[in-house]
Amino acid sequence: MRKDLVDNNQKRNQQTASLTDSYQPHREMVMRLIEATFKDLSGPDSAELSSLVLLGAGNCLDVELPRLSELFQTIHLVDVDAEAISTASEASGVPGEKLRLHGPADIAEPLLSLTSRDFEPTEDNIEHCTFVLQQLASENGLADIPESDVVVSLCVFSQMLDSLRHVVAEDSPAFTNAVRSLRVGHLRRMLNMLRPGGVAIFVTDIVSSDTAPELKAATDDTIAATVKKLINERNFFSGTNPALVLEDLNMLSRLPGGPDTVHTIDPWLWQMADRTFAVYGLRIQKKPPIQEADEAQV
Ligand SMILES: C[S@@+](CC[C@H](N)C(=O)[O-])C[C@H]1O[C@@H](n2cnc3c(N)ncnc32)[C@H](O)[C@@H]1O
Repeated sequence: MRKDLVDNNQKRNQQTASLTDSYQPHREMVMRLIEATFKDLSGPDSAELSSLVLLGAGNCLDVELPRLSELFQTIHLVDVDAEAISTASEASGVPGEKLRLHGPADIAEPLLSLTSRDFEPTEDNIEHCTFVLQQLASENGLADIPESDVVVSLCVFSQMLDSLRHVVAEDSPAFTNAVRSLRVGHLRRMLNMLRPGGVAIFVTDIVSSDTAPELKAATDDTIAATVKKLINERNFFSGTNPALVLEDLNMLSRLPGGPDTVHTIDPWLWQMADRTFAVYGLRIQKKPPIQEADEAQV
């Protein structure tokens, strides 16, 4: 992996490590989504589920590990920043055997090992460029994580897009395809980490007060309308438009291990020190096991 791209992520985590209080409403929202999914999957006796995967776990400020450890037997923390997940797991007080740390790990491999040469728009590079796009879009997940009940993507997608912009410029002919490949790959990898019938929760920041100062004045009641307006004005992070994510999920739903149902979760606000982000979520349930589907048709 490229040291500069890994360092960028580590630096951001170091800068946000002290923002526990500022993250509180965002954390509560993410926890609500995971706890509601736990209830859906665990049935009437609320039996503990086998495992949860947190992608982009970082400092774990957007989850409460002790609360989650009461719901899942094992929690996998995945991040390119090994130090952040290690520090967060120690600070959580959750028994070590419940937490499995996967870091440094590039969940969009080979993203963090790419260079601008990989996307050079020259005739003799087309074949290589196509190969790289296929790799980004592949479902090659992390080999050492067993199929899990729930996988959550914790605002890691926008960080992956940021790394991509260090490798391929926005005005390059390859940029749009690279963004789409990265997004499809991320969705496929989440689905691939799930057991049949499991649930992926895709949480992503879509725009910040850097380009949309009106977010600072937004409230829980106005944020959905504000985000809708910003999307119409094309003021959002390239690649995070929910309409395009839904299009990709629709395409993936034709595959055997694809989504069965997808629900959009309305945007909410995430305060990160003096910056405000709008965040939205998608709850994606993987198709159930084949035999269950067959029985249902009888
Ligand atoms: C915005 S932070 C999410 C907040 C984090 N859960 C927390 O509470 O601190 C995104 C996280 O994704 C990680 N990340 C970014 N790109 C990654 C990649 N390609 N593979 C693995 N982790 C990545 C960063 O290191 C960071 O910890």
